[in-house]
Amino acid sequence: MASISFSGVERVFRQNGQDFVALQDVNLVVQDREFVAIVGPSGCGKTTCMRMAAGLEHPSSGTVSVGDQVVTRPGPDRAVVFQAFALFPWKTVWDNVEFGLVSLGVDGAERKRRIEHYIGLMGLQGYERAYPHQLSGGMQQRVAIARAYVLDPQVLLMDEPFGALDAQTRVVMQEELVRLARRHPRTVLFITHAVEEAVYLADRIVVMTGRPGTIREIIDVKSIRQAENWDQHSRIEDVMDQASFVHLRSHVWKLLRSSGHGADVH
Ligand SMILES: Nc1ncnc2c1ncn2[C@@H]1O[C@H](COP(=O)(O)OP(=O)(O)O)[C@@H](O)[C@H]1O
Ligand SMILES: [Mg+2]
Repeated sequence: MASISFSGVERVFRQNGQDFVALQDVNLVVQDREFVAIVGPSGCGKTTCMRMAAGLEHPSSGTVSVGDQVVTRPGPDRAVVFQAFALFPWKTVWDNVEFGLVSLGVDGAERKRRIEHYIGLMGLQGYERAYPHQLSGGMQQRVAIARAYVLDPQVLLMDEPFGALDAQTRVVMQEELVRLARRHPRTVLFITHAVEEAVYLADRIVVMTGRPGTIREIIDVKSIRQAENWDQHSRIEDVMDQASFVHLRSHVWKLLRSSGHGADVH
């Protein structure tokens, strides 16, 4: 079972000589092959949650587990996609996607099969020999997503992966991620401060509020998406026109605004 569990998680940081509680009483289980988005204002602790799941950061109390293992360090069962395209600039697209597979010990023929599959799904055919600096931001982030999926990790952790993209590229990437996520369901923890993005992508949305960062509400999107058959629309703007979508989006906004920090959210 590739679930991600936050159990009684608290994180205290020291800033300017004083302790402050960045995260308090975070309890959340992302189920096997569930796509959960966390939304919340800047500074509410979203990245800290993701870094704890990645093993790059540790709770002050409580535990974060993946499957039945408490997370203590980074591992190949978890792939991370950051906002900044963390590609190797000296490696080609193909070699960037291949990199983690080599360390996992996947054999050559299987590597080739998987790389071709995800390069195709992410629309990167023809760019295999290009270097990151020759690609647009959107293309670079496709490489980062292909590189994460190709490892077939138990869980994917994405921290505002589309945050640095222009609005049009972002929409294309959101549509592609939805196609990818429906075709290859994985356990995904997806962090964003964009409300529409969360409603469009996620099975459930965790709405956080800040100071201290805590979970305000968890919203089930999947049952509404399925009941209203959003996936019959291939274009994001057609989904966003649905009354059920508009209603959910405004519900999330109200939650964020009522916390008093809604102005921080884009
Ligand atoms: N290593 C650290 N040391 C001190 N404070 C930190 C550290 N990491 C994060 N913080 C603080 O914790 C809070 C939550 O940060 P972060 O998780 O990055 O929020 P978000 O991703 O939601 O914007 C912020 O106030 C931030 O300044
Ligand atoms: Mg962040």
